[in-house]
Amino acid sequence: ATFGEPWNGYVGHLSEQIASVPPTRLALLALVNLPIIAIVLNVLYQLLPKDPSRPPVVWHWIPLFGSAASYGQDPIKFYQECGEKYGNIFTFILLGRRCTVTLGAEGNNFVLGGKHTDLCAEDAYTHLTTPVFGKDVVYDCPNELLMEQKKFVKFGLRNDNFRTYMPMIEDEVTQFMKKQDHFRIFQMNDINEWGTFDVLDVMSEITILTASRTLQGPEVRDTITASYADVFSDLDGGFTPIHWLFPSLPLPSYRKRDIAHKKISDLYVSIIRKRRESGSKLEAPDMIASLMEQKYRSGRALKDHEIAHIMIALLMAGQHTSSATGSWLMLHVADHPEIGEALYQEQVKNFRLPNGKWRTMDFEEIKDLPVLDSVIRETLRVHPPIHSIMRKVRTDIAVPATLASPSENGTYVVPTGDYVWSSPAVSQLDPRIWKNSNEWDPTRWSDPQGMAAAAGRAYEDSEGAKIDYGFGLVSKGTDSPYQPFGAGRHRCIGEQFAYLQLSSVIATVIRQVELKLETPFPQPNYQTLITLPKKPRAISYRRRQFD
Ligand code: HEM
Repeated sequence: ATFGEPWNGYVGHLSEQIASVPPTRLALLALVNLPIIAIVLNVLYQLLPKDPSRPPVVWHWIPLFGSAASYGQDPIKFYQECGEKYGNIFTFILLGRRCTVTLGAEGNNFVLGGKHTDLCAEDAYTHLTTPVFGKDVVYDCPNELLMEQKKFVKFGLRNDNFRTYMPMIEDEVTQFMKKQDHFRIFQMNDINEWGTFDVLDVMSEITILTASRTLQGPEVRDTITASYADVFSDLDGGFTPIHWLFPSLPLPSYRKRDIAHKKISDLYVSIIRKRRESGSKLEAPDMIASLMEQKYRSGRALKDHEIAHIMIALLMAGQHTSSATGSWLMLHVADHPEIGEALYQEQVKNFRLPNGKWRTMDFEEIKDLPVLDSVIRETLRVHPPIHSIMRKVRTDIAVPATLASPSENGTYVVPTGDYVWSSPAVSQLDPRIWKNSNEWDPTRWSDPQGMAAAAGRAYEDSEGAKIDYGFGLVSKGTDSPYQPFGAGRHRCIGEQFAYLQLSSVIATVIRQVELKLETPFPQPNYQTLITLPKKPRAISYRRRQFD
């Protein structure tokens, strides 16, 4: 007998047994066990020695699904924990996509300061944004055209336009408080009774009303309150993480998104045509008027559908970012009555006239209101509305050793096809950089020697390298640990408008009412693209008594 004989017998017996099982049952058995086989193979694969030039991959049990659950629950906690375990660079699997996260100021610089031919925003975003914004703009055109479009928009966002916007925003908020049900107790004129409002509902409504009254123009402002509210909400419903992960699914939200896009695009085109035909005069110069005057470097004017789609993009870019920031800000102010009082006193000192009436703030004056300014900055530090910024890798790209390296002489390389992500939220909450980093403390911005002041200066136009990507000189800011508006060539162009809108809204509200928070501070909701406060998020308010 040879050594193999008993085995031969056993194998023969096993094959006989398998042969006796009906093929349908065999197929069923294989199918049932497939997930287990896949999990086992995935685990074995992760245990195999790896190419040392690839960043470490976050351990995960289920192939393709990867770290979707822990990332989706709380991305910031997920990044922080992975950072502690794997260092400043790691790759995680998100429903079949390889996402390489680079943390810290160096990580921000790697993603935001990279060449756009290597790290591409349009490849990362277009499947989400183009069905919502429309064709031929933003991420549905070459980057050079986007830079020109940003220049056109910046022209519309100039200071002399801003000056006319301040009284319009103040008026819009005042009317809102006088008429909307959210402020019913305020309308009763009783100075002793407290009412409540859902802060996100109020800030969302105020943001769209004020943005449309100013940037979007009178026709859009009237349409929003009339028949188009549901259409805008359907468009919005197509702008979620699910739509980024699955570009097209046979679900109602995708169909409604496409119908809404067509209706809104047609609405803008008809506004543009009517304006061109009638040549009517506007209350204030708005963005449509501004875009209608612009020409690409090639000498071609913008087509009507391009103007329409840029307008949709601006509406979507500003709506949730500003309403989220305003909501978090109001919640913190309500939670810190002493800061609410300081904000109010700053308004009294600067804008209360001897006859007891209020004077409208000037755009230039906002910068000289330290309490209001630092309250906005600090809110954007603790709650940047966009927690992750992503690009798609078009060519294998080496990671600088200052960010991370596998060994003293080695270099990590992020492969083509990966998404690279930076997270301003992580560097803005990093306890190694910021004192009491998780605490919302606006006073940190008034310490001239502090980290906040240094980071703020580096991020803004006052200091640091300035560069023109095609839409005017901006501070580079790519390696700043504070960058709520992004940095580099894709840096936000709505920053100044957002500051002016938020300042004006907050000041108008705080002049009229005191705020307090009677429920626990809300948790962030990460199921939406923009980080919003979860319910309950009611703020209590009481009409102020004037002498
Ligand atoms: C880009 C944040 C308001 C228009 C960005 C980016 C961030 C950001 C982080 C960079 C995205 C990236 O690099 O992938 C914010 C915040 C806002 C705000 C926190 C309010 C608090 C606005 C407003 C507008 C606007 C009001 C329009 C009026 C844009 C545009 C881009 C942009 C056009 C450029 C996209 C690109 O070049 O790829 N914003 N934004 N944003 N934002 Fe804003």
